[in-house]
Amino acid sequence: MSIVNAKEMLIKATEGKYAVGAFNVTNLIQLEAVVEAATEKKSPLIIQTSVTPSKFLKPEVIGAIYRTVAQSALIPICLHLDHCTDVPYCRTCADAGYTNIMIDASKQNFEENIRQTKEICRYCHRMDNISVEGELGTVSGIEDQVKVSEDEAALCDPGEALKFVNETGIDLFAPAIGTAHGVYKTKNPKLDFDRLAQIAELINGQGVKIPLVIHGGTGLQPAVVKKLVALGGAKFNVSTDLKHSLIDTTYEYISSHREEYNPGKVDIAVKEAIKGRIHYWIDLLGCAGKAG
Ligand code: 13P
Repeated sequence: MSIVNAKEMLIKATEGKYAVGAFNVTNLIQLEAVVEAATEKKSPLIIQTSVTPSKFLKPEVIGAIYRTVAQSALIPICLHLDHCTDVPYCRTCADAGYTNIMIDASKQNFEENIRQTKEICRYCHRMDNISVEGELGTVSGIEDQVKVSEDEAALCDPGEALKFVNETGIDLFAPAIGTAHGVYKTKNPKLDFDRLAQIAELINGQGVKIPLVIHGGTGLQPAVVKKLVALGGAKFNVSTDLKHSLIDTTYEYISSHREEYNPGKVDIAVKEAIKGRIHYWIDLLGCAGKAG
């Protein structure tokens, strides 16, 4: 069990028509909460860090904590670097023990995106047990240092998608289909389900080769999440939801225990709140009981 890259667990997910939750963490409490919740649900798990928390905590520290936690876990756990636009930093994190690396060159032109993504694939595939995620089209909103305005956002072209996948050698593919990072401005954001279906058919129609990734999970209605999974979304990214849970719970706990000064109790409250969110997502994505 335990220390795995993302590819095999997501091929299983695509074939089984469920998705694995990929949860962004910024500190140890969140990481423990995510692991505990997934273990309770017997679910495979992807822990992810964006670049800023990765640099703040130090990739080798995160890698060491991940190895310690994952080695003794009863579920398969992958550690993913999210939306990294910096090729050398992708390599640093691969060296530090991340088992899935996302090179995000989606703001570059098509050829340059292919070039950078291919470079990271070559590097990671030479090492043991590391898979690579690439993105085509751009997901709007803010995810750490990657900011894409609605005007700049571009959906993934299905014809280019096939070329991108074949030329880069990526293991996971994130096509932009209208989801966005952060809080949606409307309850019913305009998503291009047909485009996702077309891309899934083109890439995985003759047998699952490259699992698909859905970004911008926070705020999507449950029926929409289920539809995205049914259409082939196998890795489902959730970040903002967990940030809100951490900040809101901390604020509420401190506001109602003004005289306490017991950091451990704040941590317990945060951990329980985050675990509740992870249970929700795991049930919705259908990955409970799929750890075996
Ligand atoms: P949200 O912050 O909208 O949940 O998106 C997460 C994500 O896609 C991380 O890559």
